[in-house]
Amino acid sequence: MKYRLRDANEDDLVKIYEIERLSFKNPYGYDLLWWLLKAPNCFFIVAETDNDIVGYLIGRYERERIFSKLKRGHIVSIAVHPKWRRKGIGTALMLEAIRRFQEANCTRVILEVRVSNKPAIQLYEKLGFRRIKRIKGYYIDGEDAWVYELPLKEREKPND
Ligand SMILES: CC(C)(COP(=O)(O)OP(=O)(O)OC[C@H]1O[C@@H](n2cnc3c(N)ncnc32)[C@H](O)[C@@H]1OP(=O)(O)O)[C@@H](O)C(=O)NCCC(=O)NCCS
Repeated sequence: MKYRLRDANEDDLVKIYEIERLSFKNPYGYDLLWWLLKAPNCFFIVAETDNDIVGYLIGRYERERIFSKLKRGHIVSIAVHPKWRRKGIGTALMLEAIRRFQEANCTRVILEVRVSNKPAIQLYEKLGFRRIKRIKGYYIDGEDAWVYELPLKEREKPND
């Protein structure tokens, strides 16, 4: 099965929105996806086969605290079309996001996940993410979230 990862563009949004609606109980609206595509502190990656978009990931660069020099990566959303799951696409999207965050000198990657979302939790734990806290009532329907974290190694600085 062949697919490649690339940055998303506006033409991909209809397909991304379809995957979003097939994947989440309370999907993001089309306008929010468009806004995230344009946001300067975000990247938006798609997985594409010969003729279809089959998954996407949105990542955001954030400061740890206001005025902090420390940066962290935040996985805002990830989804793979139901027909294309369990083929390694979610893993490939996550590894690309982690690579980009590392490249940008982020010290860690964080994300939130529904406490009931076993497939996603398995994926994150397999990649080395660890649970750091539970947020009560994080989701619109009142479900709690786990916050997961992946510490990143500092990049080697080249010798002067
Ligand atoms: C979570 C999601 C992105 C995973 O995508 P995927 O392409 O199926 O993931 P991969 O094929 O790379 O799976 C990697 C590992 O994750 C775990 N995993 C994935 N789906 C799983 C499932 N249904 N049950 C248990 N473990 C699962 C497995 O450990 C798997 O490795 P394995 O296939 O070798 O056993 C996909 O299930 C999805 O889109 N879910 C709906 C949207 C969602 O919940 N997003 C996360 C929001 S926080």
